[in-house]
Amino acid sequence: MTILVTGATGVVGRRVVAELLGAGRAVRALTRRPATAALPGEVELHEGDLERPESLREALTGAERLYLFPVPRTAAEVVALAVESGVRRIVDLSGAGADDAAFGDGYRVVERAVEASGLDWTHVRPGEFAGNWLDWAPSIRADRIVRRPYGGAVTQPTHEADVAAVAVAALLGEGHAGRTHTFAGPQALTVAEQAETIGRALGERVRFEEQDPVTAREQWIRDGYPADIVDWLFGMWARSAHDPAPVNEEWATLVPRLTGRPARTFAEWASDHAAAFR
Ligand SMILES: NC(=O)c1ccc[n+]([C@@H]2O[C@H](COP(=O)([O-])OP(=O)(O)OC[C@H]3O[C@@H](n4cnc5c(N)ncnc54)[C@H](OP(=O)(O)O)[C@@H]3O)[C@@H](O)[C@H]2O)c1
Repeated sequence: MTILVTGATGVVGRRVVAELLGAGRAVRALTRRPATAALPGEVELHEGDLERPESLREALTGAERLYLFPVPRTAAEVVALAVESGVRRIVDLSGAGADDAAFGDGYRVVERAVEASGLDWTHVRPGEFAGNWLDWAPSIRADRIVRRPYGGAVTQPTHEADVAAVAVAALLGEGHAGRTHTFAGPQALTVAEQAETIGRALGERVRFEEQDPVTAREQWIRDGYPADIVDWLFGMWARSAHDPAPVNEEWATLVPRLTGRPARTFAEWASDHAAAFR
């Protein structure tokens, strides 16, 4: 059985490829840039662009299962081509916020295309990636400091390796058809605690400096974040800083339920990525 992994050079996709190879599966990988893909030699590399569905024809021919990185504009055409090519199962990367208005219809466009395919499908809806905090790397490297608004806001960061593990469980296992797997990391931590955790991984103190939200908002928008996403995030963090929610147990327990292994903690993520902050 051949499995096509799109987004294969991405943070999640690379781990999906590695897990599938580890399980002894034949893996094809799609990339727009084969020359720099740096994927393991056993992978059958195909050049293609999800924005140009026809470019996937060769990669899809003979593939039975598909890990779909979400590109909303062309998702319906890509899924139609997958059906035509004989794919039997699609596992799509989505997000826990898929139903939130701030994301527009982006994730749902992909999910709906997959649902309408008539194939077995599973939506993988992770919460916030721990990797988002690589944004903190420059200020931690320079001054061992994180400057952010809403240091008391609680989030439940998700290790990207667990996102891949859930996708692989759905690609290889049974009983996932027609299901939406919404999940996140095992702990609810304040933003300030997350900065401290990175410090522990470094073996050095990382200070947290509370930033004025108005200044931070302007800076984020100057840095290129869309204003509606910034407002959604800041609104969520402001509410959480005021009234921190406990851990969402249903989200926290999905990884162990599906994979039989504990979900990876933020401390593990920080330790895995310490070099980026050093
Ligand atoms: N960040 C979060 O908190 C969060 C939370 C929930 C869900 N998500 C979802 O997770 C996604 C990120 O996943 P990730 O970290 O694995 O991605 P990533 O590291 O950004 O990599 C995505 C990969 O997809 C490939 N790609 C992008 N556009 C493509 C296209 N048009 N055609 C073919 N390949 C394309 C690229 O590979 P090549 O350059 O090799 O072609 C790239 O390596 C987000 O986009 C979002 O949908 C994120």
